[in-house]
Amino acid sequence: MSLLRTSILHLALLAGSYHAVAQSGRSLTASLENVRLTFALSAGGLPTYEVSYRQKPVIKSSRLGLKLAEGPGFEGPLVLAGSEVKNVDETWQPVLGEVKNIRSRYQQLTVHLRQPAAPGRRLDVVFRVFADGVGFRYEFPQQPSLKYFTVTDELTEFALPGDHKAFWIPGDYDTNEYPYTVSRLSEVDNAQLVKSSTAIAVRDAPDAQAVQTPLMLKSTDGLYVNIHEAAQVNYPAMQLHVDRPTARLKAQLVPDAVGTKAYLHAPDHTPWRTVMVSNKAADILASKLILNLNEPSKITDTGWIKPMKFVGVWWEMQIGKSTWSYANSADTLTAAGQLIPHGKHGANTANVKRYIDFAARHGIPGVLVEGWNVGWEDWFGNWKEGVFDFVTPYPDFNVPEIQQYAAAKGVKMIMHNETSGAATNYEQYLDTAYRFMNRYGYPAVKTGYVGRIIPRGEHHDGQWMANHYVRVAEMAARHRVMLDVHEPVRPTGLGRTYPNWLASEAGRGNEYSAFSDGNVPAHETILPFTRLIGGPMDYTPGIFKLRNYAPGSPERQVHTTLAKQLALYVTLYSPLQMAADLPENYEQHLDAFQFIKDVPVDWDDTRILEAEPGEYVTIARQQKGAASWFIGAITNENRRTATLDLSFLPKGRYTATIYADAADADWKTNPEAYRITRQTVQASSKLRLNLAPGGGAAISLVPAK
Ligand code: NOJ
Ligand code: CA
Repeated sequence: MSLLRTSILHLALLAGSYHAVAQSGRSLTASLENVRLTFALSAGGLPTYEVSYRQKPVIKSSRLGLKLAEGPGFEGPLVLAGSEVKNVDETWQPVLGEVKNIRSRYQQLTVHLRQPAAPGRRLDVVFRVFADGVGFRYEFPQQPSLKYFTVTDELTEFALPGDHKAFWIPGDYDTNEYPYTVSRLSEVDNAQLVKSSTAIAVRDAPDAQAVQTPLMLKSTDGLYVNIHEAAQVNYPAMQLHVDRPTARLKAQLVPDAVGTKAYLHAPDHTPWRTVMVSNKAADILASKLILNLNEPSKITDTGWIKPMKFVGVWWEMQIGKSTWSYANSADTLTAAGQLIPHGKHGANTANVKRYIDFAARHGIPGVLVEGWNVGWEDWFGNWKEGVFDFVTPYPDFNVPEIQQYAAAKGVKMIMHNETSGAATNYEQYLDTAYRFMNRYGYPAVKTGYVGRIIPRGEHHDGQWMANHYVRVAEMAARHRVMLDVHEPVRPTGLGRTYPNWLASEAGRGNEYSAFSDGNVPAHETILPFTRLIGGPMDYTPGIFKLRNYAPGSPERQVHTTLAKQLALYVTLYSPLQMAADLPENYEQHLDAFQFIKDVPVDWDDTRILEAEPGEYVTIARQQKGAASWFIGAITNENRRTATLDLSFLPKGRYTATIYADAADADWKTNPEAYRITRQTVQASSKLRLNLAPGGGAAISLVPAK
């Protein structure tokens, strides 16, 4: 505490004498606990910053600045026009999430800069230093010489002190659906990967040395560093170009259709650039820095926002058992023009009722149905605008009948709006589509953006689409609808501001096991450190039939054990969680399905018990408003013994139900072998878990009567 006070005093002094300080070549600093941020103007007047952790460099002196089309921008010499420091320490409650209370404690340094010559445009850089990292953004104050302007390049750099190990995916403008590559930064080369990977999404990664954020890094001396952004609104996504010889990363903004980056109107600002750091990997997963940098909820009445689990008419299409489309090659068209489908259309009323029955029987609140609406005959790959109207069902999908059937059984239907990338088309129908959901009682919608974007030439990760996703979230909120967005830009914590935006996909989900070689066993140990840093992921876990599920492709296999599929409900946080497999596959293992029935999707507390990216993750979470805890432990392709210290448990005895890999389980040769055991534990207990190669364990801890 006294240390903190000293540094506040130090900053107050600095703030008072900024001019002298900067002119004499010294710098402005802000710090909190082990993290220290230094701002300086170089001899030539270029703004720079540095970050250190426990006196070790995290980011070496790195450039700040932006280029504008209406030059001169903020690339050239700037002078210091003032600075302020303030300290903030507040606690807030998310509408839903991993913990009940979130503390936001930081020291903020605002640096006012000005062009030395006419027109003397002004730029502020605002730094927030937290105990686990730094966020900073550019702010453009209202001023006569900068009103409407165009950002053509952002000059922000992250100069790393070493050739760190990196967990990266290509700097694609349109998709995050890649497997992660683990390599030194000096080895980043995405060209081959972009060419070879299976994708249903469009791929466009023109710079072979560019990677996406969140970028997870580990230094040779054990520092964990994560670079991302927070609150990406009205601005394109930031990717990072890796200068391989120097490990210097440069911001690269996703361009729009005419090759420019962002159109702004002062007063305005960029998203926050974030650098998280710790000597413990678990701290990166526990960090609330990104959420803290986002704006509070814009929705005041949030009582209707309810995290939920769901099943769906979905995996059966993914594995080729049924189709989204109603018409297909085996259909016949009668002389009278009547279409007789050959019976593979998944979203037919009888089949949907089967899922509703299953959900009702097992207390799963929701049922998603894809392929219910006309358009799927030409949905994909055609860059066509008017494919869907989002309200017209196929003739074998009876909306009111299904709605009444579900309502009578206490089940909620989840809407599906695939846009096939035609965001313009979706915007035309938005109001109509959401009224339709209201009329038929759909509380949530899964949207999707497979294919090239319309407006043609725009990218999934550009400024236009960033605004589109927010418009959809706002429209959904107006209609009290919750959102699960597939194929958007990767999240940056906007779920705080729009708590109805429950989840996004924006990454390579479990579905890749249905139509490709799938995901390597390490994949789910990397996701929490990369994709999930910005927000929840609809990964669609819970596949029980792990081999021989795809009729046309017997070689396909999910690269995990069944117990690991259960553990993912805890290790991959999402307030919307699908039980993705077919009801008939769950019926074969109802004892294991019990975990999916029990596991909550909203939490009061979270403890990262152990974690190492690419290797293992073990997380314990406390159920919202209840005393039960749930643990998920996963490993990569290596067998692992984990000894869990349960000292986080409050006083008392708990019945632990342990869903573990059987002794002979192995993701490759024996993935469906599990063992369920029960024992009584308490805070002083240690639990020894044996995880199979590609395996995991899931545990529920219920207070003993
Ligand atoms: C891709 C999504 O990730 C998947 O979940 C969905 O089924 C298809 N698009 C069709 O919308
Ligand atoms: Ca997808």
